[in-house]
Amino acid sequence: MEENKNLAVFMKGITKKFGDFTANKNIDLDIKRGEIHSLLGENGAGKSTLMNMLYGMYPPTSGEIYINGEKKEFKDPNDAIKAGLGMVHQHFMLIEPFTIVENIILGMEPVNGVKVDIKKAREEVIELANRYGFKIDPDAKIEDISVGTQQKVEILKVLYRGADILIFDEPTAVLTPQEIDELIEIITNLSKEGKSVIIITHKLKEIKKMADRCTIIRRGQKIDTVNVKDVSESELADMMVGRTVHLEVNKKPQAVGKTILNIENLVVKDIRDISKLNDFNLDVKAGEIHGIAGVDGNGQSELIEALTGLKHIDSGKITFKDKDITNKTPREIIDSGLNSIPEDRQVRGLVLDFTVAENMILKSYNKEQFSHNGILKSKEIRSHSSKLVDDYDVRPRNIDYYAGSLSGGNQQKVILAREISADPDLLIAAQPTRGLDVGAIEYIRNFLIEQRDKGKAVLLISFELDEIMALSDRISVIFDGKILKTFDANDTDEREIGLYMAGGNDEEK
Ligand SMILES: Nc1ncnc2c1ncn2[C@@H]1O[C@H](COP(=O)(O)OP(=O)(O)O)[C@@H](O)[C@H]1O
Ligand SMILES: [Mg+2]
Repeated sequence: MEENKNLAVFMKGITKKFGDFTANKNIDLDIKRGEIHSLLGENGAGKSTLMNMLYGMYPPTSGEIYINGEKKEFKDPNDAIKAGLGMVHQHFMLIEPFTIVENIILGMEPVNGVKVDIKKAREEVIELANRYGFKIDPDAKIEDISVGTQQKVEILKVLYRGADILIFDEPTAVLTPQEIDELIEIITNLSKEGKSVIIITHKLKEIKKMADRCTIIRRGQKIDTVNVKDVSESELADMMVGRTVHLEVNKKPQAVGKTILNIENLVVKDIRDISKLNDFNLDVKAGEIHGIAGVDGNGQSELIEALTGLKHIDSGKITFKDKDITNKTPREIIDSGLNSIPEDRQVRGLVLDFTVAENMILKSYNKEQFSHNGILKSKEIRSHSSKLVDDYDVRPRNIDYYAGSLSGGNQQKVILAREISADPDLLIAAQPTRGLDVGAIEYIRNFLIEQRDKGKAVLLISFELDEIMALSDRISVIFDGKILKTFDANDTDEREIGLYMAGGNDEEK
């Protein structure tokens, strides 16, 4: 096996079966020392499975794994860690009441019976953080720090254990644009230090920004490994999905109609009496997609909650179709023709242990169409759900599946089907494509445009500026609980919007 001496990782002919299902089929993957290698594939393609085997979580059904040219058979992740591997999972495994340092040293075996020296560990953690440019307070508690910082703690934990080969499973799905930039810088620094990095991501732009090579996996099989600088984003997308994907949105010009939603001087406070929305003004017109651009935490969640009746409005007025809906109940608001795709599809969007059919009528089971005198009309519900599953391409096409067993993209399609089929005059779409792969993103974006083309209003709230730019007819920038400025999408660009997202320039404020 001389040929793979220079490789950090060589996975050879890896196959993994779960029962009858083949999640990985004869995959070869090689990772050079010091490279940033991305794994690209749609949801369910088999990326995490491949990495879990590399990290010793379970053995391959067949195939071999070499680390630095040496054949390995990991019994568990501890074996993998000893061989220099480290994995940063998508869901962090940190203990909330503990400090950063405590979390990092947690689980380290005392060496030679000697207890871990916390003081020394703390210094080492600080040194490590400085070396890679992490801005952290080692004594802060996990419960008090942002998601982005928690991820840094996970990375430090892996580095503290001496990892040379780091695996990141979709690390940017939970981050804001700024945090993503910081992570990209951290990863680039790691590779400059000679570490090898494997990063699973759907985001083509991120691959182009940081990766040296990219391996594309589709339905459990390796499609190709390419040099990132030799391929375009759209070529990567096509390889991943197996057909031509349209990354640009095709949007016809459209005459906008009258104002559907009008928000005047809205004030929403949190429990500590701090204003989260402060003198907030906005109007949304029929036939437009109105994008709200902004960094996470500037009042977006409060805006969505106020509009959907989930949060008390302290003052100001919301007018929807000429009616005052200020402080109405969620039910009254839905019934008046306002539907929403919630920010967190697993918490507010779906009941995960309900079936797809049950989720489809979550908001309309009380309608005459689906129930009579409190008794559900099972046949109507089933035929309605089956049609939606077909129309919105929910896979698998089975309305008896539990929502929790679907992939993220398909969960989102269920929500979209439910919300759009209600034929709302205003659809609020909050982070509609967060964490989804390009195939599903294309699908969901097209549905939003279809709503607009039908003359309906869409309020799009997204942290992804690309998404706002691609879809919106008008763009309003939210900052510190206020709309700083509203732009016609044709008269602005990412740079200008980005400037306002950071607070705008002082003269205009
Ligand atoms: N422990 C498991 N048992 C059964 N099926 C699994 C298991 N882990 C993954 N799978 C299946 O293998 C396929 C690939 O999953 P995964 O590797 O998580 O995909 P990806 O990370 O590319 O989204 C999926 O269809 C998934 O349902
Ligand atoms: Mg995965």
